[in-house]
Amino acid sequence: MECQNLLVEKYGGVALVTVNRPQVLNALRSSVIGELLELFEHLSWDDTVKVIVLTGSGDKAFVAGADIAEMAGFTAQQALTFARTGQKLVSFIGTMDKPVIAAVNGYALGGGMELALACDFIYASETAKMGLPEVTLGIMPGFGGSQKFARLRGRNRANELIFTGRILTAAEAKEWGIVNAVFPSGELIARTLETAGKIAGNGLLGVTYAKHVIKRGLDMDEENGMGYEAVLFASLFATADQHEGMNAFLEKRKPVFSGS
Ligand code: COA
Repeated sequence: MECQNLLVEKYGGVALVTVNRPQVLNALRSSVIGELLELFEHLSWDDTVKVIVLTGSGDKAFVAGADIAEMAGFTAQQALTFARTGQKLVSFIGTMDKPVIAAVNGYALGGGMELALACDFIYASETAKMGLPEVTLGIMPGFGGSQKFARLRGRNRANELIFTGRILTAAEAKEWGIVNAVFPSGELIARTLETAGKIAGNGLLGVTYAKHVIKRGLDMDEENGMGYEAVLFASLFATADQHEGMNAFLEKRKPVFSGS
């Protein structure tokens, strides 16, 4: 598919998606959000893609937020549509069957941090800076940040981050439990692709079901979550990947998974 503001490269079963508007630090115009939605939907159907890595163009920013130049002219009604569109994107990423990893290579602010939070986990460069500074513009998070951050790190940290508009360094984001690992800038993409490649080499249905049960299980009580886990666990025994994975172990060879 044709994208004006996104780059897509493939490394084996991994698709590297780059938001490419470096002149405005990859800020999200509504047209970029539309392209991201369309691209992620397209990648969902692409059987050659097993894992997606999302990053920003240049060495300064992942995504420095929603596009303030565009938002400045919004009516309240247009702002509502904009928020709903951004939320559609973050929800879509969160419920995709394929894992999505954010490689935060610089500023991830406002909508940029919300986009990173929508991913399954986040790696960051030492130069990354993350925050939800919308109140400094007289608004508040609108792409799920207030909900996702509070669920991820708790109400008190969400309150502090959002009320102050404070920007966290990469080390602080790691300490706050937002990013899983911090790498030197020059290594971020290679290290993220390495992890993505490892995931892509595993049984995709097992990864997918685990993603769903971890996410949905958090909204259930533990007993229901365990019931859901047991059913998904059992259903994997009807797949070719379970036969291949276990036979390969017993035959002392590397498994070759088909994703079926
Ligand atoms: N929307 C639109 N344009 C943006 C943008 C955004 N969110 N963030 C950066 N830009 C543009 C700047 O306007 C500037 O454009 P110009 O060269 O035409 O003036 C360009 O990107 C470079 O940004 P600049 O501010 O000059 O870089 P900096 O290194 O001095 O500062 C930031 C970097 C990220 C601290 C600063 O750009 C910033 O605060 N951006 C807004 C962050 C924000 O509030 N995001 C949440 C939005 S809801």
